[in-house]
Amino acid sequence: MPRRGQAVVIGGSRGLGAAIAYALGAAGWPTTVAARDTEQLERCRKEAAERGVELSTAQVDTLAPADVRRLFTDLAQRGQLDVCVMAAGRNLSQRLLRPPREAGGAWSAHGIEEWHATVDLNLTGTFLAGREAALTMAQAGTGGVLVPVVSCTWQGSWGQSAYAAAKAGVVSLTRSWALELGEFGIRVVAVAPGVVDGAALREKGARHPAHARYMERLREQVPLRRFAAEHEVAETVLHAVTNQYLTGTVIEVAGGGFPARIP
Ligand SMILES: NC(=O)c1ccc[n+]([C@@H]2O[C@H](COP(=O)([O-])OP(=O)(O)OC[C@H]3O[C@@H](n4cnc5c(N)ncnc54)[C@H](OP(=O)(O)O)[C@@H]3O)[C@@H](O)[C@H]2O)c1
Repeated sequence: MPRRGQAVVIGGSRGLGAAIAYALGAAGWPTTVAARDTEQLERCRKEAAERGVELSTAQVDTLAPADVRRLFTDLAQRGQLDVCVMAAGRNLSQRLLRPPREAGGAWSAHGIEEWHATVDLNLTGTFLAGREAALTMAQAGTGGVLVPVVSCTWQGSWGQSAYAAAKAGVVSLTRSWALELGEFGIRVVAVAPGVVDGAALREKGARHPAHARYMERLREQVPLRRFAAEHEVAETVLHAVTNQYLTGTVIEVAGGGFPARIP
């Protein structure tokens, strides 16, 4: 894609989103990182600037439709929008059922609040951001690309059914939107990482040794025997952005993936 316009990364203030924003900025797109916490947005901007990449920041809650609309109105006033990466998401580890021997004497079942929170952020948040990004691109008549960040768990994952279902929903949006938006020159390409070896994973492992042991067993099941580096996922997003014949598909960047249930 010729670098004519700008990029935005929703959920770009830390973790994978920040790495993607940095890569887009380094590749020449004027890039805005959008998230809720303004202090973290500023930290993200400063860290990128120290590495030679200027990023803009914008506060947005991807679950607030008016907020999302305002973000895209502001972006449209600044110039043409080429790229919208939707990275705001959160995993949930919760089984559908836990038997009495594990749950203190009675069956315990998946919580409805946790279900809604997971589906809202991962699926509805992506819908709201993708809808406004597509509208902005269609109204401008310039085309563009939407890149939802999903997860290789979308095909089903033991102990993560709400998260996996939400990401599968986003894969379905990817396919449907590609069918609808191709005529406007708008592509939709999902990127599906496996586990990413980032600060959040290391910090959680330091706080919860049992989690660190579980993740080590998981890592051994990955055919490449390691998790992804953030820049490897960011490079895949750049490929989705630059390859003009990709749409309606999911690019997995998961080292060969892992089994549905870790032994
Ligand atoms: N890390 C992994 O191993 C991994 C693997 C596969 C897929 N993924 C996917 O990759 C994406 C990024 O994951 P991550 O681990 O890098 O996440 P993370 O470190 O928790 O970062 C999440 C980002 O989303 C923002 N965010 C959260 N809720 C938001 C909301 N309502 N509105 C706007 N922004 C919001 C956060 O900022 P605020 O909280 O300040 O808003 C932050 O910038 C997610 O979609 C995740 O499912 C991650």
